[in-house]
Amino acid sequence: MQIRRYQDLQELSREAARSILELALERVGERGIFTIVLSGGNTPRMLYEQLAQFPYPEKMPWNRTHLFWGDERCVAPDHPDSNYHMAYEALIAKVDIPAENVHRIPAEMPPPHDAALAYECIMRDFFSQLSCPVQDGVFPSFDLVLLGLGGDGHTASLFPGDPVLEGKERWVAAVNAPDYMSPRERITLTLPVINRASCVLFLVSGSGKKEILDTIHNDPQNASRIYPAALVQPAGQLIWYTDIM
Ligand code: 6PG
Repeated sequence: MQIRRYQDLQELSREAARSILELALERVGERGIFTIVLSGGNTPRMLYEQLAQFPYPEKMPWNRTHLFWGDERCVAPDHPDSNYHMAYEALIAKVDIPAENVHRIPAEMPPPHDAALAYECIMRDFFSQLSCPVQDGVFPSFDLVLLGLGGDGHTASLFPGDPVLEGKERWVAAVNAPDYMSPRERITLTLPVINRASCVLFLVSGSGKKEILDTIHNDPQNASRIYPAALVQPAGQLIWYTDIM
C-alpha cells in the first residue's frame, strides 16, 4: 500500500492523470487495450477534467481505452446524481473515445437486481472477446480501478455491514445504501472483481477522511473489520493519492 501525498486536489489530479497515461500506454503497448474502471462522487471530477485537457486528448490511446464504472446510482444517465453523467460532462464529451468503448452501468433499468445482471453480462461479453478470455469461475482483471473513500469508509457502493462484502460469486450487485446516503439504490462491482485489478488507485481528498485513511494505513487488520475500503487488497498495485497530510 503506497500513499502519495500532494498539496491539494489539483496537484493530486494532475499526478494521477500522468500515472493513468503512463499505465494506458504501457498496457496498450503490451496487449493493445487498456481497461479502466471510473469511480463516482466528487473527488475524481478534477482528474477527469485533467484527462480532457492538453496533452491527454491527443496522448491517451482513447481508441484502445475501455471505460467501465465501479458503481452507479439507480438514476437516468443524464441525472445530476449519475456517476456516468459526471464523467460524461467532465471527460467523455471532450475526447475522441469511441462510443462502443464506453461501458456504462444501465442502472436506470428497474429492478436494480436486473440492472446488476445486465452489467455483469456486458462485462462478460467484453472479457470473452479478449485475446485471453476469462475462464468460468474466474473474475475479470481490470488494468486499473479508480476508487474513492466515503466518510464511513465505504468505497464504490460497498457500505459497512452490507452482506455484499461477503460475496464470492457475483461480479456486480444491486445494493441499498444506508439511509444517510442518497440515492439509496445502487449498482456496484463486488470486492472479488476489484481485488483482481492489476492496479487500484484510491483518490482521497479532504481532511475529514484523515482518521479513516490513517487507520487503514496504520491498523489494516482493525480497519478491515469496519471499513469496506480496507478490504480492497488487490493482487496488483494499491496506491492512495491524497491531499491529506
Ligand atoms: C459514489 C462513489 C463513492 C465515492 C465516495 C467518495 O457513487 O458516490 O463511487 O464510493 O467514491 O462516496 O465520494 P467523494 O469523492 O464525493 O467524497
